[in-house]
Amino acid sequence: MRVKTLLAIPALLVPFAALGQAHNAVLAEHQPHYYDVQDWGIDPASVTFADHIAPILQRSCQNCHRPGGGGPMSLQTYDEVRPWAPVIMYKTAIRDRMGAMPPFYVEKDIGIDGFKDDYSLSDLELAMIQAWANNGAPRGNPANEPDPLVFDDSTDWTLGSPDLVLRGPDMTRPAVGPDWWGDLGLVPTGLTEDRYVKSVEVREVNDIPVADDTKTVGGRYIFHHMTYTSGVLNEDGTAVDPETRESWPIHEVGRNADIFSEKAGRLLQANSALHLEAAHLHANGRETTGHLEFGITFFPRGYEPEYTTRGPRTGNGIDLDIVPNRAGQEVHNYVVLSEHTKIMAFEPHLHAPGVRMCMEAIWGHNIFTLNCVGYDHNWVKQYVYDDDKAPLLPKGTILHTIAYMDTTANNPNLADPRNWSGAGRRSVTNMFIDLGYSVTLTEEQFQAEMAARRALMTDRNDYDIGCPLCWAPETVSSTVAQGIE
Ligand code: HEC
Repeated sequence: MRVKTLLAIPALLVPFAALGQAHNAVLAEHQPHYYDVQDWGIDPASVTFADHIAPILQRSCQNCHRPGGGGPMSLQTYDEVRPWAPVIMYKTAIRDRMGAMPPFYVEKDIGIDGFKDDYSLSDLELAMIQAWANNGAPRGNPANEPDPLVFDDSTDWTLGSPDLVLRGPDMTRPAVGPDWWGDLGLVPTGLTEDRYVKSVEVREVNDIPVADDTKTVGGRYIFHHMTYTSGVLNEDGTAVDPETRESWPIHEVGRNADIFSEKAGRLLQANSALHLEAAHLHANGRETTGHLEFGITFFPRGYEPEYTTRGPRTGNGIDLDIVPNRAGQEVHNYVVLSEHTKIMAFEPHLHAPGVRMCMEAIWGHNIFTLNCVGYDHNWVKQYVYDDDKAPLLPKGTILHTIAYMDTTANNPNLADPRNWSGAGRRSVTNMFIDLGYSVTLTEEQFQAEMAARRALMTDRNDYDIGCPLCWAPETVSSTVAQGIE
């Protein structure tokens, strides 16, 4: 929640570096987040690769920065890391803005802190990287370095081995050619019973040699993105019944896997198929043949989801008017929630001009900033809330999403800063959507969720940012009391 008066006074007392935290979405004015390890009582000269930096790289970087990992260079050994020290310092210090590493752009100084699979760096970790790089990136005692991580590339699914792997058709793109957009048809699941899906991860498998370093993410793949649905096959297996259609999160280059909430698994029916409705392929500079694989894990047999109805979509896909050469452009969208709603995931979806998206909940005279995240059109990130941190919004809440655009030459993702652009599907046009998802709750479910939150709070001054009614006096809804619901 934004508390303006509190911010104003300590600002006079804090060191200059911390002022860099102030957020505005103008790329040219964005300040790196610099810290001083001495504020944690640590002598800057004592920070070494062996003792402090290697563990950070293992946890947050090496999954990508290793041979075959998708990152442009390996950051495993001291000799590999040492030349990059100043760049690592800068890329991690920009933290939540376009170009930052690791690519996880949630702004930490505002809103809810509680996301699944959060590999971002803490203030102290940034401080240590900065002290270390500024001090000539010393190695320290090699005997103290953690054992190297062993990556099992035989499976290469970030969420572990799936229960079911489905394979799309092979596609070939020439070295150079126009983009291709179309329907890739059906992929039968082979299921003989209904199953609820716990997670889904989509990956592209292609014939680009792993060791052949292409320097860019786009150069390693031909599938830019794909939207797909599923449903029960008709008798001759040529189409899915539209009545049974379920939508799935989009596949996009650089996107993380989807983990559904324990309470909101998604149905994949007996005799169903995936329908790969809209694939966007691009040429990457070398002739490439590849296909998509879908790694699916299930909830145990007999599982039934508690929450089955999805909440509304937010965003504005129609009347966008993004003018050339201007920073700080904002687009707003308001949705009134007609049911109690739990927001499970936030996924800003913008195009090249996008630099930031915020989501706030307006309840009565209160405005809660739920989260603000930076945006980089090179990366597509979904931020999944921890179950006990996800926003719990009463019906009547106005959900306000704000997108920030920068169309100046400071935005390297733009094709040309002189172009006006409106709304549309292509990357040179714009989108403004939250692709995350929410579920609606009955009165009883809402009260039960709030009771669980209240039990986590230690006293009345404890605050749950996403739960405006958590401290409201408990009442039994008259409809529940009368057994009407
Ligand atoms: C999810 C995969 C992923 C993770 C995690 C990740 N990186 Fe990267 N990194 C990349 C990719 C891909 C690029 C090149 C494209 C780009 O810059 O967006 C890159 C670029 C970089 C660069 C710039 C290289 C250059 O040529 O200028 C640095 C430095 C870097 N990463 C450091 C790190 C550090 C340090 C971490 C962990 C704190 C990290 N990365 C975590 C994938 C990743």
